[in-house]
Amino acid sequence: MMFGLLGKNIAYSQSPKIFKQFPLHTGQALNYQLFDVDSHEISNYMEMLRNGEIQGLQVTKPYKELVIDYCDTLSLTAQKIGSVNTIYLRNGKIIGDNTDAYGFEALLASHQITLKNKNICMFGNGGAAKSVYYVLKKHGIEPIIFKRASSKRTPITKNEYTYEDSIIQSCEIIIQTTSHDFDQNHIQQLRDMSCQPKMVIDLIYYKKTALMSMAELSYNGIMMLIYQAIRSYELFTGETMDQTPELIETIKGVLT
Ligand SMILES: NC(=O)c1ccc[n+]([C@@H]2O[C@H](COP(=O)([O-])OP(=O)(O)OC[C@H]3O[C@@H](n4cnc5c(N)ncnc54)[C@H](OP(=O)(O)O)[C@@H]3O)[C@@H](O)[C@H]2O)c1
Repeated sequence: MMFGLLGKNIAYSQSPKIFKQFPLHTGQALNYQLFDVDSHEISNYMEMLRNGEIQGLQVTKPYKELVIDYCDTLSLTAQKIGSVNTIYLRNGKIIGDNTDAYGFEALLASHQITLKNKNICMFGNGGAAKSVYYVLKKHGIEPIIFKRASSKRTPITKNEYTYEDSIIQSCEIIIQTTSHDFDQNHIQQLRDMSCQPKMVIDLIYYKKTALMSMAELSYNGIMMLIYQAIRSYELFTGETMDQTPELIETIKGVLT
């Protein structure tokens, strides 16, 4: 089986390392390549899906929205989120799905995080934010979103404020979804605004971030990364993976 990641400037990706662990667990050989391409090349990869040269594509920045136009059908999740990170062929049709939402739910479950009845604040309003927002809404939670004053993105919700707004005091749980690693200066600004979260979830997956040090409880995005990959694999193959604690620990081991 041949899978790959479609994106631009993706040499940093940890996905090959994750997928390399799957054959050791499932016994099914696979190859996972990085497809670092310009947008005009996307159609070639769709053709390779159709003719069976590739069995599954993960998609990352900056193509998660662009690839929608190349799919014959979108899953309900991908439709609602408005972005696709997993593409595969089923019955001759190119299906676009989104497993970031699954990954975020699995992150919450794996750390036994309950978000109900708390003031949830999201930092950022980009693609990852849309998946997190979808999961929160599914759980009946309406978060506040904080964004830069300069942000030009279409709002996800009417509850969007800038980091300078005093409502930031109300954050009990921060879910950090931006591509920015908040540094000590930003953190001091947040402290000066009396922002004192009890928990920080930072989607950055490769370390404990400075923002995470603001709260007693904190989690990075490694579990989301692992589970979104597992779910993509399941969609590619049509088979359920036995998600054992040993598998998760092994993958964590190769990523850290
Ligand atoms: N753990 C996982 O499995 C997982 C899954 C998906 C994504 N992620 C991570 O999530 C992050 C965002 O990915 P994405 O796909 O959502 O990217 P994206 O669509 O490009 O969105 C980027 C977001 O970051 C904000 N941002 C960029 N620079 C900033 C800065 N200097 N200060 C404050 N905000 C800034 C952008 O705001 P503006 O509108 O102001 O530019 C936007 O809200 C990445 O680090 C990615 O690796 C992790």
